[in-house]
Amino acid sequence: MSINEPNLEQSRGVIARYRAFLPVSESTPIISLGEGNTPLLSSARLSKKVGRDCEVFIKNEGVNPTGSFKDRGMTVAVSKAVERNTRALICASTGNTSASAAAYAARAGISCVVVLPAGKIARGKLLQAVAYGAKIVAIDGNFDDALRVVREIGEDNDFAIVNSINPDRIAGQKTAAFEIVDLLGDAPDLQLLPLGNAGNLTAYWAGYREYHGSRRSTKLPAMIGFQAAGAAPIFHNRVVEKPETIASAIRIGNPASWKQARAAIDESHGAVDVVTDEEILDAQRWLARNEGIFVEPASAASIAGFFKSCDSKDGAYSFEKIPPGSRIICTVTGHGLKDPDAVAKDVVDLAPVAANPEAVRRAIAL
Ligand code: F0G
Repeated sequence: MSINEPNLEQSRGVIARYRAFLPVSESTPIISLGEGNTPLLSSARLSKKVGRDCEVFIKNEGVNPTGSFKDRGMTVAVSKAVERNTRALICASTGNTSASAAAYAARAGISCVVVLPAGKIARGKLLQAVAYGAKIVAIDGNFDDALRVVREIGEDNDFAIVNSINPDRIAGQKTAAFEIVDLLGDAPDLQLLPLGNAGNLTAYWAGYREYHGSRRSTKLPAMIGFQAAGAAPIFHNRVVEKPETIASAIRIGNPASWKQARAAIDESHGAVDVVTDEEILDAQRWLARNEGIFVEPASAASIAGFFKSCDSKDGAYSFEKIPPGSRIICTVTGHGLKDPDAVAKDVVDLAPVAANPEAVRRAIAL
C-alpha cells in the first residue's frame, strides 16, 4: 500500500472482518456502513458489585452506524438481497430494525418498506426511517401484528423480508460474539442480553458455538435474557396478547425466535428473567450517570437484569453461584438518543437566565 492510499480497514464492516463465518461469496456485493467493531468497556463499578474478582464488560452496540446492533445483521441481509436482485426490502419493527433497513437500503440504492405499530415507535427511530427515505406504513396493531402482515406480503417474491426470521440477519448478528471472544481471548462466562423478538440471543449463541467449534474459545457462556415484566412471553411461557412496557423496542408478545432462544438458554444453562419498567429506567439513568453510556430503555434491560441478579435471591439467575474470576458481558443494544422522550421527565426547568457570569453562578448554586 502506498503512503497516499487510504487505509479503510477499520471501516470495512463485519462482512470484511468475518467473511469466512458468513454466508457470502466472491459474487456477493457488500453493502456496508462500517458496522461492528464496537467498544467492549470494562466496568470497575459493576465488577465491584459482583465481587470475587469477577470482571464485568459492557458491549456498547449503540455506536453502530444507525445506533443499534441491527446493523450487523442488516449488512448481511441486504448484501444477500442485492445479490439475489431484490428490488425492495420490507420489515416490521419496533423501530431499530426499520431504521437499520432503511439506511442499508439507501446505501444499496434499493427501496424499503417499513411496517410499524402506529404510535408505538420511539421518536428518534421513526425520524431515522423518514430521513433515510423509507416508505413507512403505520398499522392499527402491535409489533406482532406488523410481523404477521410482513410475513404474508413477503410470500410473493417482490420483497426481501429483513426481520430476524431471515437467517442472514442472525448470521450477521453473531459477529458480536466473535468480537467479544477475539477481544477477551476466550468466551466469557455469562452473556446478558435484552430479549424481545429473541433473534439476538439466538445469534450470540450461534456465534459463541461456532467459535467454540473452531477452537477459538475453550468454553461457552451461560446465556441470560431479560424481558420487560409487561412483555415477557418467554419467561411466562405463553403469548402475551397486549404487551406493555416503556422499553418499546422489546414490546413484543409472540417472539419470532422464541424456540431458538429457549433452546439456547437451556443448552447454555442460562436463564430468562423479567425486569420492571422502573428497574429499566433506573438502570438507564445509572449507566448514563456512572459510566457515560446513554442507552435506550430496552438496552438497559441487561443492566437492570445485572443488578437484579446481583441483589436478589428470587431472580431467575443469582450471581452468588458463579465461580470467582468469572467474566460477565452486558450487551447494551441501542443508543439513548433514539428515544428522547424516555428521559424527558428528567429535563429540569431550562428557563433562561441573564447572559452574565453572576446570573450563571447563581443558577449553578440552585
Ligand atoms: N434492544 C433493542 C434496542 C432492540 O431494538 C431490540 C429489538 C432488542 C433489544 C431485542 O432484540 O428482538 O433480537 O430479541 N428490536 C426489534 C426491532 C424487534 O424491530 O427493532 P431481539
